[in-house]
Amino acid sequence: MEHYHMNLTLKVWRQKNSQTPGNFETYNVNDVSSEMSFLEMFDVLNERLISEGKEPVTFDHDCREGICGACSMVIDGRAHGPWGGTTTCQLHMRAFKNGDTIVVEPFRANAFPVIKDLMVDRSAFDRIIQAGGFISVNTGNAVDGNAIPIDKDDADKAFAAAACIGCGACVAACKNSSAMLFVSAKVSHLALLPQGKPEEKQRALQMITQMDKEGFGGCTNTYACEAECPKEISVMNIARLNRQFLKASIEEE
Ligand code: SF4
Ligand code: FES
Repeated sequence: MEHYHMNLTLKVWRQKNSQTPGNFETYNVNDVSSEMSFLEMFDVLNERLISEGKEPVTFDHDCREGICGACSMVIDGRAHGPWGGTTTCQLHMRAFKNGDTIVVEPFRANAFPVIKDLMVDRSAFDRIIQAGGFISVNTGNAVDGNAIPIDKDDADKAFAAAACIGCGACVAACKNSSAMLFVSAKVSHLALLPQGKPEEKQRALQMITQMDKEGFGGCTNTYACEAECPKEISVMNIARLNRQFLKASIEEE
């Protein structure tokens, strides 16, 4: 597609911290290139705000290449914006046209308190991972990969689940703020492989318990999470986790 420039109106959520109520501020950004990424467009706005002596918009980012999961924003009502299977940092301005008004908000969930503006605290995810504990492996040299036979189908499913970048879009997209897609991806990528089997049930129980403690809601199978996930993690992982959880709970009794 031809490279073009556009003038845009941004309605951006500004919020000092989680204790202070926030509000939308309107900014006009002119001469935005269709080649820019969404975050580069914010960089341009921030440069201008700084030169005007105003507070730049705080937003989270790190890799800017779809790996770290930091760039959590809701753009025009969609976590990570209008493109499917794409993080905000990989969203390009050619997704928009001249004269558009774009509404940008932080991920909204009780378990993700706003740190400032568009940046939320997603450390609840870290605590869920920690609750999952360890996998048992012998120390020493790594075993030759071919020494552990793994079914191709299981290897593929584990690999697909391991693509989860912990961004939290599944939570932001869910009307219940459920973290089940994230937790199920993290449980599945280990549980499907022989190395993750010994602690499989305990891991599922501990991670789900932590998820509930953090205040994420329950899953009611609306699949909004799968639709908004930038890594297209399948809801089949949730079904697998539910089976594991049930089995583990029965055995615990
Ligand atoms: S499951 Fe998808 S949306 Fe949820 S944290 Fe992982 S990558 Fe992000
Ligand atoms: S900044 Fe790392 S995934 Fe977007």
